[in-house]
Amino acid sequence: MKTNREHRMKARHTRRSILRAGLVSAASATVGLRVLTTEVLGQPAEESSRRLSRGDAAILRFLAALEILETDLWQQYNELGGVQDDEVPGGGGSAAYTAALEVLDPDMPQYIHDNTEDEMTHFEFLNAYLLSKGAQPANLDEFRTLPSSQATGAQQLGRLTNLMQLTVDTSWWTRYRSRTENPDLDPKFTFPQAVPGLFDGQFPAIPRTDDDLKPPDHLQAIANTAGFHFAFIEQGGTSLYPSLAQRTSAPEVLRILLSIGPTETMHFQTWQDKAGNAPVLTDPTNGLEFPDLNSPLLAGEDFQTNLIMPEPVPFLSRKFPVCSIIRPTATRGAAMGAANALTADGLFLGQSPDFFELLHDLAADADRARSDR
Ligand SMILES: [Fe+2]
Ligand SMILES: [Fe+2]
Repeated sequence: MKTNREHRMKARHTRRSILRAGLVSAASATVGLRVLTTEVLGQPAEESSRRLSRGDAAILRFLAALEILETDLWQQYNELGGVQDDEVPGGGGSAAYTAALEVLDPDMPQYIHDNTEDEMTHFEFLNAYLLSKGAQPANLDEFRTLPSSQATGAQQLGRLTNLMQLTVDTSWWTRYRSRTENPDLDPKFTFPQAVPGLFDGQFPAIPRTDDDLKPPDHLQAIANTAGFHFAFIEQGGTSLYPSLAQRTSAPEVLRILLSIGPTETMHFQTWQDKAGNAPVLTDPTNGLEFPDLNSPLLAGEDFQTNLIMPEPVPFLSRKFPVCSIIRPTATRGAAMGAANALTADGLFLGQSPDFFELLHDLAADADRARSDR
C-alpha cells in the first residue's frame, strides 16, 4: 500500500509531466504566436519572441495563478454586491447586502466591479503572455469545486475560494501607520490588529443564505468584514509584485510586474479608505466587534482612520532617514509568504490536498527564480 507521501510524489510527478507536455505543445505553437506577440506587445519580433528564462516563467505563472484566485473571490463579491454587467457578467445582486456595503461608501458596487474586472485582465494578460513565449499558463479549473453562496443573487457554480469562513488579518492597518516598525527590518514584531475579532474566528464576508440578511447589525458586520477583507487582499498584491520584481531577468517581465503591481496598490489605497468607514458595531449573532478606531483609548496615529497615506518608516537600514514605502518588499520567500497568507485567511477552506500541493509547487518554483541581470 502506498503511503500518503508516495501518493503526493506520484501526483506531483504526474503534474510535472503534464506541465512538461504542455510546454512542448505550447512551444510548437510559438511560431504562430510570434506574430500575435508582436501585435499585442508592439515590440520588435526579435525582442518579444525571445524565450522566457525558467525563473521569469515561474514568477509569471505563480502570479497568474494568484490572479485567477483573486478573480474567483472578487467575482463572488461582484455577483452579490457589485455591478453585474457585460464587463463582469454573472449574478443578480443582493439588494440588502449591497445597501450594507454602500454604508462604507455609496460607490462600493462600482469599485467592487472594477476591482473584479482588473483581476480578470491581470490573469488573462499574464496567461496570454506566457503562451506567447511558449510557456505553460496557469490553470486551476480542476479545483473549481467549492460551494457558492445560497443567498439570492449568487450564481450556483463551483468556486476556487471560500468567502464564508474567513479569518481576516487586519494588521496591515497598523503596519502602514507605524512610523517605527517595518516588517522587513523587524520580522518578529507583531503589528496590532485593527479588528482583533476578525483575526480570532471564522466569519462570512458575503451572505451565506438569505438568513444572513438580518438582523441589520449582522448583515452590516458581514459588509464590514468584506470591507476589511478587500484591503487585506489588495495589500498582499501591493507587496507581492515589488517583492518578485527584484528577481525577474528580462526587462519586459520586470515591466509587466512594475505595471500591474501599482494597480494592486491603487485598489488597496481605495479599500483602506473605505474600511475606515465601517460602522462601529457588535454582531448580535456571534459577538464580532468592530471597534471605534478613532477612540482616544487606542494608540492614536496607529489606528486613526484618515491616515491612509503610508506613514514614513525605516527602510533598508535604520541608518537612513525614514521613507514612505510599500512594506514588506523583501524578496526571499515572497511567493510562499503570499500563498501562506491567503491560506491562513481561510480562502481555501474545503480545497483538496492536490490544490495546496499545486499552489505550494507554483510558489516554490517562483521563489527559486534568480535574476540574471
Ligand atoms: Fe491582480
Ligand atoms: Fe488585486
